[in-house]
Amino acid sequence: MTIDDFVVRVATEDDTKYALQICSEMEESAKARGTGIARRSPEYIISKIRQGKAVIATHKDGTWAGFSYIESWGHDNYVANSGLIINPQFRKLGLARAIKTKTFFLSQKKFPGAKLFGLTTGLAVMNINNDLGYRPVTYSELTDDEEFWKGCQSCVNFNILQSKEHRNCLCTAMLFDPAVDKAKVQDTDA
Ligand SMILES: CC(C)(COP(=O)(O)OP(=O)(O)OC[C@H]1O[C@@H](n2cnc3c(N)ncnc32)[C@H](O)[C@@H]1OP(=O)(O)O)[C@@H](O)C(=O)NCCC(=O)NCCS
Repeated sequence: MTIDDFVVRVATEDDTKYALQICSEMEESAKARGTGIARRSPEYIISKIRQGKAVIATHKDGTWAGFSYIESWGHDNYVANSGLIINPQFRKLGLARAIKTKTFFLSQKKFPGAKLFGLTTGLAVMNINNDLGYRPVTYSELTDDEEFWKGCQSCVNFNILQSKEHRNCLCTAMLFDPAVDKAKVQDTDA
């Protein structure tokens, strides 16, 4: 099996059928890693698909393979690429990299000029973000939109975030500011 056995694309209405599977895999993976995660409902996943703000990977036989979506905050000045999840059957094939890359360019098309950011504890994601052109920053550089930070409430580490008065936590923050940062990869769909 190789990456060529998969299609990575902006999700469409037909993909709403995968929402339940995507949500349960997000929860299972977070449990297995023992790390925190902001909880998402299938309805939320479906809304992201309907807004054209989700990227999905499917195997050529139709099996769901991976997912990520875009959220915007602070009057659309900040955009987060969140909820990256790869079906455990299909990990280490380059799908996370392919999905993150597509989501990175989709974010810039949907929200031109917005600062892109992510919070992660995962080394794979840090490496992918770094290869796209993101850099690590302190939380002071992220959105102060309270709605964004509410997403952390369902994380097992939320008490740490609170004890640090939202200045720090276990996640590494990474930012791509199109005004100052240069993408290190090219948009193959452009
Ligand atoms: C983390 C995850 C998204 C990686 O997906 P994947 O499709 O296996 O990743 P890729 O094959 O695209 O690998 C991307 C890079 O990360 C590396 N990588 C993959 N999994 C890794 C891991 N667990 N630890 C360290 N590096 C890892 C790969 O070697 C690859 O590096 P390279 O391109 O320099 O060779 C996937 O394991 C997953 O869904 N995990 C559970 C959910 C999760 O952690 N989501 C991220 C929340 S921020």
